[in-house]
Amino acid sequence: MSTEKTYQFSPHAEARFKELETKFPQRSSLVIWALHLVQEDVGYIPRDAVDYVAQRVGVAPSWVAGVVSFYSMFHEEPIGKYNLNICYNASCYLMGSDKLEECVTRKLGIKPGETTPDGLFTYTRQAECLAACGKAPAIQVNEEYYEDLTPEKLEALIDELKKKG
Ligand code: FES
Repeated sequence: MSTEKTYQFSPHAEARFKELETKFPQRSSLVIWALHLVQEDVGYIPRDAVDYVAQRVGVAPSWVAGVVSFYSMFHEEPIGKYNLNICYNASCYLMGSDKLEECVTRKLGIKPGETTPDGLFTYTRQAECLAACGKAPAIQVNEEYYEDLTPEKLEALIDELKKKG
């Protein structure tokens, strides 16, 4: 008999899921919300959580796996504590997003898709428009936006996040 622990909602996620179930009469609409709960729980979407969400919502695992792979906000592998997304769309690119990327690579030694050896930072991707074009260039760190950035401001932000640990 296997002693490997498989994913299930934390008590907090379970309570939130039960609350959400009352709001979505069409159960398939719960998939995205359930995946957000998983990601809040463990920081990414483990493979066994795909099966778990499918079973809890009542859809095929392939449906859930399709949602995970379609939306870039879901991570199929563990990522760093600070998840960096640099906007590379037109306004940000014209205002220097390539300089921000150079800054991340120089300061942290990582490129898109890589994580620092200490597990603190992941430069997840060159993002599409973050809807902050008026204050380009913009980046997103976890759920926070940072706008009007320069490489100097970004270096200071990285230093601050390193201090926080
Ligand atoms: S182009 Fe970067 S926020 Fe819109």
